[in-house]
Formats: sequence, structure tokens, C-alpha cells
Amino acid sequence: MSLVNTKKMLEKAYRENYAVGAFNVNNMEIIQGITEAASEMNSPLILQASVGARKYAGPVYLRKLVEAAVELHPDVPIALHLDHGESFETCKDCIESGFTSVMIDGSSLPYEKNIDVTAKVAEYAHRYGVTVEGELGSLSGSEDNISVEEEKSFYTNPDQVIDFVQKTGVDSLAIAIGTSHGAYKFKPGQKRELRFDILSEINQKIPGLPIVLHGASSVMPKFVAEINKFGGELKETFGIPEELLSKASKMSVCKINIDSDLRLAMTAKIRQSLCEKPSNFDPRNYLSSAREAIKEIVKHKIKNVMHSNNKIAVGNK
Ligand code: G3H
Ligand code: 13P
Ligand code: ZN
Repeated sequence: MSLVNTKKMLEKAYRENYAVGAFNVNNMEIIQGITEAASEMNSPLILQASVGARKYAGPVYLRKLVEAAVELHPDVPIALHLDHGESFETCKDCIESGFTSVMIDGSSLPYEKNIDVTAKVAEYAHRYGVTVEGELGSLSGSEDNISVEEEKSFYTNPDQVIDFVQKTGVDSLAIAIGTSHGAYKFKPGQKRELRFDILSEINQKIPGLPIVLHGASSVMPKFVAEINKFGGELKETFGIPEELLSKASKMSVCKINIDSDLRLAMTAKIRQSLCEKPSNFDPRNYLSSAREAIKEIVKHKIKNVMHSNNKIAVGNK
């Protein structure tokens, strides 16, 4: 089976009230761990590569590694998605090199410019059967001590959504309802919440539109503790509680992006392995435990956050 785009995958997730996990990939062990987890959980999968990931691994290596995963797991519907494409040229390059889905992230641009670049990417991508994710709103996260007016400016404005989707032709939309990128999402004592009212309002205005949540790592305390136990220096930090993400995936959220939780799980295992076996200098040793850690965390997310386990059905491919 070859790579699929995200069209049917996200439509099915919308209909059946679950989300497809979109996990960031950078190297072989990460791709292997994620794909083995999805295969064991009978779950569809989005492997996503950022501009930085393509630069790190090299576009050809990354694509060939994903092709190997697809060949070895014909049972799993897998999409290869560009995460945070910053320009039409990057999206075009990915489409030409075999990506089946791209994100054009014009969220930092003025509204009309975001529409222009997103519509241009969608028009081009759809000629090749590639699906497109746009973004509306800013993922800076909620901060203390800001006014309601300031707060409004970074959450997605539901009144703009119909106009944006109609003018751009996107297949899915990333929105800002309180998630943010990286490991430091909330300060100690800060209330950890998501704006489910905005999510519901968007769904009412444009039913059937698959919504994407970026910045959805939970920053599990056990990984932060393990990293620090084995010589790391991470500050106290809080991510998005998994119960909130689980609730979102049963609503109109159909794609949930996770990167930081994988980085933390992998780093914790590598640190532990190097500390506990100081005489080892064979990378296969610590990288195989890191690959196993990726697999375990992805299985956990598929079961407890996405609810996409056992969702591969005949006709889904
Ligand atoms: O949202 C961004 C992803 O976590 C990718 O991060 O640009 O460091 O690869 P990166
Ligand atoms: P996290 O940093 O919360 O894992 O978010 C990843 C992401 O949104 C990738 O696009
Ligand atoms: Zn993101």
C-alpha cells in the first residue's frame, strides 16, 4: 500500500468522534517507534515533518525512511504531512517529492495575506490529490495579566472561519483555543484550560470541517523527572492535560499534533541508558531503548488521547 492523503482519514475521524495522531518525525528510530505503535494499535497515522526535520535528516532520507515504514506496515493507512510549511515554495517542493498532505502556516500574516498564500497552496496541492491544512489564530498560548481584548486577538475568531475556509479551499483547519508549542505551556499555578466554547461555535458555523490542534503535548511529569534524575536541567513545566485532549478528540478535533512528548520520552530513556551503563558506547544500545520509549508513548496517546485504536476498517485505505 502507498501513502494516503488525509481526506478520508479525517472525514472518518470526524464522523466517528476520534482524532488521528500526527507525530513529528526526524530520524529512523522515531519513525520506526511511531509506526510500530500505530500498527499494533490498528490506528491510522499521520507522520509529519517540519522544515527543521527536513533540514536535519535531509529531504530524501526522510522520505525514504517513511517509504520503508509504509512498505513494512501495509496494514496502516499512513499520510506524510508537511508541518508548518512557511511558504508556497516549500509546500510545492514537498508535493513534488511525494508528500500526501501539507500545512501552509500563514497564521502570523495579516488575514488577507494568509488567505492569499493558503488559497494558492490549496489550488496547487489539489491538482495532485494532496490535502491542505491552514491555520487561523495564534498559538502563543494564554498568558496571565492580559486583557480580554488582547486575549481575543490570539484565539481563533469563529466569525472568520467560514470566510477563510470558503476563500482558501482548505481541507482542515488548525485553530487556537489555548494550546501552544513546546514544553513550557503553562506556568505553575496557572489554570490549564481549553476554549471548548470556541471549538463548538466553529463546528456549528461550519459542520463537517476537520479541526486540527497543534501544541498538544501533555509534558508528562514522569519524563521531566527522569530527565532531571539523570542529569538534565528542565524547569518545572505543565502541558495540556490529556483529559482535555480526549474531550476535544470526541468533538470536531480530528488531528492532534504531538512532538514535545516524544522528545521528552526519548531523551529520558537515552539519559537513563547512558547513566546506567557508563561503559556502553554502542549507539544501538541506547537508541533501541529510545525507539521503544517512542513506541510506548505513541501507543498511550492513541489509546488515551486520540481514541483511534481499532479504527482501521476495510475501505478506510
Ligand atoms: O510545531 C513544531 C514542531 O514541534 C516541530 O518543531 O521545527 O523544531 O522541528 P521543529
Ligand atoms: P508540541 O510542542 O505540544 O508537541 O506540539 C507539536 C506541534 O504542534 C507540531 O506541529
Ligand atoms: Zn504545530
